[in-house]
Amino acid sequence: MTSVPPSSTTPTPQLFSLAGKTTAVTGGGRGLGITFAQAIVEAGGHVACLDILVSPSQTEWERLTTLAKSHNLTATYHHCDVTEETSASALLETIATDAEAKGAPFWGIVACAGIQQKVPALEYPVADFEHILRVNVTGTFVTCKAAANVLVKRKSKGSIVMISSMSGNIANRGLTCTAYNTSKSAVQQMCRSMAQEWGQYGIRINTLSPGYIRTNMTDELLQAEPNLEKTWMAGALLQRLGVPEDFKAPLVFLLAEGSSFTTGANFRIDGGHCASA
Ligand SMILES: NC(=O)c1ccc[n+]([C@@H]2O[C@H](COP(=O)([O-])OP(=O)(O)OC[C@H]3O[C@@H](n4cnc5c(N)ncnc54)[C@H](O)[C@@H]3O)[C@@H](O)[C@H]2O)c1
Repeated sequence: MTSVPPSSTTPTPQLFSLAGKTTAVTGGGRGLGITFAQAIVEAGGHVACLDILVSPSQTEWERLTTLAKSHNLTATYHHCDVTEETSASALLETIATDAEAKGAPFWGIVACAGIQQKVPALEYPVADFEHILRVNVTGTFVTCKAAANVLVKRKSKGSIVMISSMSGNIANRGLTCTAYNTSKSAVQQMCRSMAQEWGQYGIRINTLSPGYIRTNMTDELLQAEPNLEKTWMAGALLQRLGVPEDFKAPLVFLLAEGSSFTTGANFRIDGGHCASA
């Protein structure tokens, strides 16, 4: 399946539409992931959220399912550990079969599941280091590999977005997060490698790399060390930290046909953090 450029008659809003498509989101139980799920539905798509949490954040989930229902779309929730290849692959295959039955074929995945840990490198236990890499790198690999296989098997084109971080490009001042930073760099290189292999199938794959966003993940870091916020704000060119909603439009752009010539790219959105030293 070769990539087809947009036609001269395709109106711009259509380039940002996910209508008639089903997209999976890992880490879709809360935080950035569930906000991405909302964005997918708002762009007209069906969404399947996968997360290790037994159930998603209640308020956000109710908002998402109400919205989906009002647009005749579906938002489904699936318990899943992204590091378990057999079950995660089988689940994505089931989601794709259900998607076909709905008339909205599987389009791709947003690999957003991730974990963070702050430990000085001199003391970092190897088992903890490996655990971060297992979830953030292997989990991303497992789910993107499975999603691409679903697409190749059906001879369908599609789009995959991996959530990396500006920590894949820089070491954050004041944060002792060697394993996390290493994992996010690895995700960016994995993306380029997969883009190189999968372009021939019409599968695009890109990384979206956020700067600081207030979510459960950063709340935990700030609770342990409240002074960190001052360090973060010192590099905030727009004088604020990010909110999950800052990433809805970039995500939809990378998923939808408007970015049909974009693959193997890293889209860093960090409120200017990496632009100045
Ligand atoms: N918050 C930030 O400032 C920030 C900045 C840059 C990148 N990110 C990235 O964004 C993504 C989402 O982070 P967030 O801030 O929303 O944090 P979060 O902790 O709220 O969300 C992460 C989600 O991943 C899920 N998860 C963890 N391990 C899993 C596993 N093994 N299998 C399935 N699901 C699993 C968690 O249950 C959780 O719902 C992460 O990849 C994170 O590294 C966050």
